[in-house]
Amino acid sequence: MGKRRVAILISGRGSNMASLIEAATAKNFPAEIVLVVSNIAGAGGLEKARAAGIETATVESKPFGKDREAFERALNDTLVAHNVQLVCLAGFLRLLTPWFVKQWDGRMLNIHPALLPSYRGLHTHERALADGVKIHGATVHFVVPEMDAGPIIMQGAVAVRDDDTPETLAARVLAVEHQIYPDALRLVASGSTRIEGGVCRTSANASPDDRLIAPAII
Ligand code: GRF
Repeated sequence: MGKRRVAILISGRGSNMASLIEAATAKNFPAEIVLVVSNIAGAGGLEKARAAGIETATVESKPFGKDREAFERALNDTLVAHNVQLVCLAGFLRLLTPWFVKQWDGRMLNIHPALLPSYRGLHTHERALADGVKIHGATVHFVVPEMDAGPIIMQGAVAVRDDDTPETLAARVLAVEHQIYPDALRLVASGSTRIEGGVCRTSANASPDDRLIAPAII
């Protein structure tokens, strides 16, 4: 089986995109990044992608105004023209219609900066700190029409510190994101995941670090 052809959709700086591109340079990685698409002209990630030798495209959402489907048809045409097989959303700040989601059913991944199903939506780090949770993290999941829902592929967690600010917490979670997104894509692209009854099962092992307890009594 050849490598899966992957497009990454971005709207901003593209640090998760960069981690996927970097991981995919490995010979044994089961996916290749064939295209980066931004819905925002001049998004910082586009330059990073070009510097890495990846083809880029801009399909601006703004000119389409409220006509989400017209934007998505243009986006979909671009993906299809590049024979894309899997789509990774990476800081893509655009709600997708059920039509688009259906085109990529079981073939579109997203990363969310929280341990879903907790903290769907925005400002996840602020909300986690306000709630005083002791463990926080990030989730890679398949995209379904409902926002920040869908079968969970992989999660990574960090211990929340008493002196954390949204910024310091975001930075540690982001480091986890950069680890789990490439790992999750590897699982999906190698055919090691299956969706059963709305739940993602994998043939990967559970973590050898079985427990994360915070705060620790030292
Ligand atoms: C990340 O925190 C990601 O989880 C969220 O948006 C942010 C995008 O950052 N969906 P980047 O563009 O990948 O640096």
